[in-house]
Amino acid sequence: ISPEAAYAMGLASQVTAPESSLDAAIQMIRIEQEQGDYLRDRQKWSGPVEISPVELGFLGATASGYIQSQTKGNYPAPLAALEVMVESTGDDIETACKREAEGMSALFGSPVNTALLNVFFLTDRNKKDRGVSDDKVKPNEIGSVSVIGAGIMGSGITAANVKRDILATILDVTPEALASGVRNVLEEVSYNKQTRGADPERIVQYAPLVNGTTSEDEVVKSDLIIEAIVENADVKKNLFARLEPKLREDTILASNTSTIPITQLAAELAHPERFCGIHFFNPVRRMKLVEVIRGERTSDQTVASAVAYVKRIGKAPIVVNDGPGFLVNRLLLPYMHESLELLSEGVPIAQIERTAKRFGMPMGPIELYDMVGIDTATFAGRTMWEAFPDRIKSSPILPALVKLGRLGRKSGAGFFNYQNRKKRAQPDPQLGALLREHIGSPIDIDHEQLTARLFLPMFLEATRVLEEGIVRDPRDIDLGLIFGLGFPPFKGGLMFWADQIGVNKIQKMLAPLEDLGGRFQTTELLNRIIVEKETFYGISR
Ligand code: NAI
Repeated sequence: ISPEAAYAMGLASQVTAPESSLDAAIQMIRIEQEQGDYLRDRQKWSGPVEISPVELGFLGATASGYIQSQTKGNYPAPLAALEVMVESTGDDIETACKREAEGMSALFGSPVNTALLNVFFLTDRNKKDRGVSDDKVKPNEIGSVSVIGAGIMGSGITAANVKRDILATILDVTPEALASGVRNVLEEVSYNKQTRGADPERIVQYAPLVNGTTSEDEVVKSDLIIEAIVENADVKKNLFARLEPKLREDTILASNTSTIPITQLAAELAHPERFCGIHFFNPVRRMKLVEVIRGERTSDQTVASAVAYVKRIGKAPIVVNDGPGFLVNRLLLPYMHESLELLSEGVPIAQIERTAKRFGMPMGPIELYDMVGIDTATFAGRTMWEAFPDRIKSSPILPALVKLGRLGRKSGAGFFNYQNRKKRAQPDPQLGALLREHIGSPIDIDHEQLTARLFLPMFLEATRVLEEGIVRDPRDIDLGLIFGLGFPPFKGGLMFWADQIGVNKIQKMLAPLEDLGGRFQTTELLNRIIVEKETFYGISR
């Protein structure tokens, strides 16, 4: 809330300009001391609150409704806090504090509490993680950044830098694409939540930090160059070949590619050690996670510098070794793929979506297809089914939708229909008819089984990621999925969830599914954890 709003609500006693706040505070304390107002306030605040039962009832009911709509019943603490507040309005301070302590201790130690504490520890660990084990490596100072490609990602990445007062050059091939990119950057950095529009003062403050150009000579002086152009390996390699000879010896070159192996992009570079992936998620403004991808020849110096830089712009970096889909997309794809398998077996879209959301995902996998774009998802999927044909197949459903021009939300229809902007999008009733040959007749499947079908392929893939050393610790998987996919924090992370329910239970859930093929086959790591009676967090402590 703004200072003015806080004043109007009685939360603040006075509003001052930042430069006079110390004087104002001193003066306020002197006045309070003289008049003794603070003692009267203290007495008033420690007594019962004057409120009529009708008003209190109304307040409790509306607040509770609002909380439930936000927490979907998954987070007990806000409701418990409301209950304490409502019930203790008529109490004196002693009784109210006792009630609060009781309410608090009832929550402590619950599975949700344990999971949220884990999320706190994951975040804390991430803040301290320098990305490399060698303490002697000192990250490069990144004072200026260039972003190549002024599309969705390029402008988002540029804005993230400018917001943190980093001088950013943004380059595109055509003046039109550049102009639109720079406009998007300025719109984003100057956005004022209250007026829901651009704030002219902020534009004046930030505009000097943005340098839009179409000349490659202007980007080569930066400390870090992030490429975010079309997803085509040859076009990207040509760009790097032109730039590299003009770079300083300590300039770091990075790609925001979401599918092309970093080692492959670095193959013809003279200095592959100064090259890595810095993979942001869309929309950059909202997504905190950034994957720092280490190619085969990327140096510790480059990794440590990229990690420090990502933190500097307020994001959470995880270091990931090169491999198809890196970390987050590698784990996301098996889950999304399974939703198509279920659909083709005849499970209704609404049931798939409901199960995913009941598990705690912010949206179901089918709606996610529409959001990502059916064409983009097909493209990203190809990387996975080419790399892992034993467990990911290309589904005929996606190309059929593309053929019908149903590319997802951006085209007004995909699996869902988005024509009516006022209503929440619903599965399109016409879909069955449109895709008759690909979708089976409705079948019955219970909630438990559907949950296992959706989430176990993701979990098994995570165990393979650990086996292959794609990440250094199961905690990276958990942080990556919470910040990169919206995996439910109240479950503490995917591997934490598996540890909590226990690998034996997972083994039981898997048993009836193994006939479905490679994607449900147990893995060596899972077997080892079962035999050794261990946990994922336990073996990597
Ligand atoms: P986009 O199509 O919105 O933007 C690409 C921009 O690059 C265009 O403005 C184009 O004019 C420009 N461009 C093309 N060739 C160029 C060259 N040689 N030099 C300078 N500019 C050039 O694409 P988008 O979605 O921003 O993706 C960019 C990169 O980011 C791709 O590698 C993509 O895989 C990756 N990525 C995309 C995500 C997404 O959700 N859109 C998420 C994470 C990564």
